[in-house]
Amino acid sequence: MQLKPLKFGNVEIAFPVVLAPMAGYTDAAMRTLCLEHGAGAVYTELASSEGLIRDGGKTFQMLEPAPGEHPIAGHIFGRDPQAMAEAAKIIEQDGRFDWIDINCGCPVKKVVSRGAGAALLKELPLMGAIIESVKKAVTLPVSVKTRIGFNHETADHLELAKVVEASGADMIAVHARLAKHFHGGDPDWEKLGEMKQALNIPIIGNGGVNTPADAERMVATSGVDGVMIGRGAIGNPWIFEEVKNVRSSAFRRPMLEQPPEGGTTNLFNMMAEHLRRLVELNELRQGGLARPNKYPPEEAACIQFRTHIPYYVKGLFGKKQLLVKLATLKSVDDILEEVGRLVEKNMGNE
Ligand SMILES: Cc1cc2nc3c(=O)[nH]c(=O)nc-3n(C[C@H](O)[C@H](O)[C@H](O)COP(=O)(O)O)c2cc1C
Repeated sequence: MQLKPLKFGNVEIAFPVVLAPMAGYTDAAMRTLCLEHGAGAVYTELASSEGLIRDGGKTFQMLEPAPGEHPIAGHIFGRDPQAMAEAAKIIEQDGRFDWIDINCGCPVKKVVSRGAGAALLKELPLMGAIIESVKKAVTLPVSVKTRIGFNHETADHLELAKVVEASGADMIAVHARLAKHFHGGDPDWEKLGEMKQALNIPIIGNGGVNTPADAERMVATSGVDGVMIGRGAIGNPWIFEEVKNVRSSAFRRPMLEQPPEGGTTNLFNMMAEHLRRLVELNELRQGGLARPNKYPPEEAACIQFRTHIPYYVKGLFGKKQLLVKLATLKSVDDILEEVGRLVEKNMGNE
């Protein structure tokens, strides 16, 4: 797929098909696999600005990048312009992030009830003040991840675009659904096109891209400068190289063959590597200052990986046996034994 490199500030995303921030999924294990399989950039999970300021490193652990993980945005939320500026400075001073991203689209109660995330869509002057305050505090580029509106009554995507740009944001990523629809329903890519027309800064489109054909249609419909993929990348880090090479993803078969060189081109190896990275991440966390998990690293990793498994095995014949056992899988060996059995059952079963 042809897309021009996307530049904002001193960031350049050579292939602007990027991984969306997804709390509970996009930790360093998933992000590094996506980068290795063609994602142009990644965002961290969502961190609270107040938490970053107050808890001496515990919240920061949620943002922790892997060595050499680039380009990466530190993704934060909050409502107080001053606190958001402080949080952005903490991220900048860490020195490992390429830009700061401000969440103005999260619809979950915990965030919206604090007047942050998607609640800012109903308070555009405050959203603007937050962007201005963060911009003033850091030299890293600043982007905004938002939606086309909160609900039908208050939505004005063009006014939103104007405020974000006028407040100094260097880039905007827009999920083409209203906050009241959470993650359901059809995305409205035409509104992305209208925002693109109204903006001088680059815009990345998001929502409903699950195949290379979807990515092409989004760009053709809206003219956005880049594409962001969320759920389409869970259990499918290959999607980025598929979009790059316009390869259909109706192809679980090559992933079921044993690749001579190992690596993560097949399903079993990818799952094994994802799990290995999660264990490593939990070992680092356990060894670090903050937030020791109540489970030992391997078990913590297995618990986290359970949420990825249904996505990885989607479409496989006989997956039910694995899925009903999910809650009992507590070791890497347990998981890989079950996955191996399932993959074997599916080999040659086309
Ligand atoms: C489990 C989950 C967690 C998410 N967490 C965040 C988040 O922390 N910050 C954010 O801006 N969006 C978050 N999102 C929204 C995604 O970034 C994305 O906008 C949304 O999933 C639509 O894209 P998709 O249709 O490609 O999945 C989350 C979505 C999911 C499904």
